[in-house]
Amino acid sequence: MKLLVTGGAGFIGSNFIHYWLKNHPEDLVVNLDALTYAGHPESLKDLEGNSNYQFIKGDIADGEVVKQAMAGIDTVVHFAAESHVDRSIIDPLVFVRTNTLGTAVLLNAAMDAKVKRFHHVSTDEVYGSLGPTDPPFTSETPLKPRTPYAASKAGADHLVKAFFETYRLPITVTNCANNYGPYHDPEKLIPRFITNLLEGKKVPLMGKGENIREWLFVLDHAKAIDLVLQKGKIGETYLVQGEERTNLEVTRKILEVLGLDESYIEYVEHRLGHDFRYANDGTALRDLGWKPDHTFDQSLEETIKWYKENDWWWKPLKEGRPNIDRSAQIKYGK
Ligand SMILES: NC(=O)c1ccc[n+]([C@@H]2O[C@H](COP(=O)([O-])OP(=O)(O)OC[C@H]3O[C@@H](n4cnc5c(N)ncnc54)[C@H](O)[C@@H]3O)[C@@H](O)[C@H]2O)c1
Repeated sequence: MKLLVTGGAGFIGSNFIHYWLKNHPEDLVVNLDALTYAGHPESLKDLEGNSNYQFIKGDIADGEVVKQAMAGIDTVVHFAAESHVDRSIIDPLVFVRTNTLGTAVLLNAAMDAKVKRFHHVSTDEVYGSLGPTDPPFTSETPLKPRTPYAASKAGADHLVKAFFETYRLPITVTNCANNYGPYHDPEKLIPRFITNLLEGKKVPLMGKGENIREWLFVLDHAKAIDLVLQKGKIGETYLVQGEERTNLEVTRKILEVLGLDESYIEYVEHRLGHDFRYANDGTALRDLGWKPDHTFDQSLEETIKWYKENDWWWKPLKEGRPNIDRSAQIKYGK
């Protein structure tokens, strides 16, 4: 098989490429990535010289680049995106360009190249926010995004479905919970908290840490995509479930593993439009045969160990990068 992976230098994409070449060593993986601030070629440096891996530096919204990258491809796995909600609140247009327009450009090229599968990687955030006792999202839940990030991904989800309905492009979609694991950019909650604490700094926890997310180990996500590529129904959306935790519970677990107390927590204001809770009904994927190999508590410990042992990877990313200025998230009329 010849796979085009978009955004393969990012967190999930790089883990997916490692997973794929380990489990499908006969396949060729082409990684198309623009190497934005979130793209880290070092995450794939062990693949240098691997004849089953090719890298193309390019923008998914550039039709010419995408057309060339798509030549001879039979399967597309589309991760490339702007992915940080706080950044989307400050600069929404770049999210619409990459996440929505970029996906449309890829879909068009996939049609021309007559690919056998276009797999789109999306997020549970497209479904909006749940209350504490609401039932989890299913693939039938209407999209109700509440942040520019989620709206730009929802636009992509609609386009992917429209290309299936209109042109019968053979698509599948996974909408997944928050991922965690190695090679996760230190601007995101879990790696930011771990690396701040390893540096002796406090961790900024929004509100009282009461917001709830599901957490999915990144290699369990890769395994889910693999299964959907093999057994998923064309045109279908599969939700990839994680384990529910409040942000305070996640923070306490990281502090516990590192032997630190709660004086390291700095409570900060919520982001604008902060979604309270996401939760996914993973029945359809479990029915296909997926079950996670990792539990949150154990894999979080392993992730912390990875960050301890790999500061060569994350330290340069933190140095010289200012913290996101959330005071720039100006509320209309305020
Ligand atoms: N991280 C999560 O917890 C999570 C949860 C659900 C869904 N997702 C989705 O999974 C996908 C991957 O997320 P991630 O956390 O690995 O993101 P990431 O920000 O770590 O990586 C994104 C990658 O896309 C590349 N990229 C950005 N703009 C591009 C463009 N215009 N052209 C080509 N490449 C471009 C970046 O260079 C980077 O390598 C995204 O689509 C995201 O919406 C992520």
